[in-house]
Amino acid sequence: MQKHIILSALIALTALPALADDLSKYTEESRAAVMPFSKALMAANIKAIKEGGPESAIKVCKEIAPAMAGDISRQNGWKLTRVSFKVRNPLLGTPDEWEQKTLMQYEERVAKGEKAETLESAEIVNEPGGKYFRYMKPIVMQQGCVACHGTPDNISAGVRARLGADYPHDQATGYLPGQLRGGVSIKREIN
Ligand code: HEC
Repeated sequence: MQKHIILSALIALTALPALADDLSKYTEESRAAVMPFSKALMAANIKAIKEGGPESAIKVCKEIAPAMAGDISRQNGWKLTRVSFKVRNPLLGTPDEWEQKTLMQYEERVAKGEKAETLESAEIVNEPGGKYFRYMKPIVMQQGCVACHGTPDNISAGVRARLGADYPHDQATGYLPGQLRGGVSIKREIN
């Protein structure tokens, strides 16, 4: 019995550094996917607004973002999504339990004065479906987002009509620049 306890303690000890290595490897790989994804979306948003106004920028969030997220997911065998507490598209944007917990922590930390841009979460968790690496990075509202996610005075009649027709249950408005809009989330099965 005693021997068994010592043995399992030893196994746990030797397994720890390996787990930490995995965690940092998966975290690095996630950053390498999320950073260009977020940068490309911000750039596409600015370009679309400049070239065709806010109405033409709708495609960035509606088509380009889900398409890019889908490509990254397929290429890596992970699931990469953008999630939020206040969704426009509940099909893609609804957070699961881990994502809700993490977004809640972000809101608390931002309320205490931390900058959303500096936050990041990476964790290995056991879920009923298996063992997963979970990762999240906040999505922060920029000036270029208010035309569709801002307060009513930021949203033009044309954009409002388009959004109202496509998303009658839209919750994703009322944000100010700098606020936490949601998170880019990665869920990756590990063995
Ligand atoms: C021209 C309008 C428009 C602009 C500008 C815009 N969005 Fe969106 N956003 C949308 C639409 C439409 C959706 C719903 C997409 C879908 O159908 O999946 C959306 C969805 C999202 C989602 C997914 C969660 C949800 O609510 O469904 C996030 C996150 C998001 N936008 C963040 C941003 C950020 C950050 C910016 C600024 C860089 C931005 N958006 C600028 C129109 C816009």
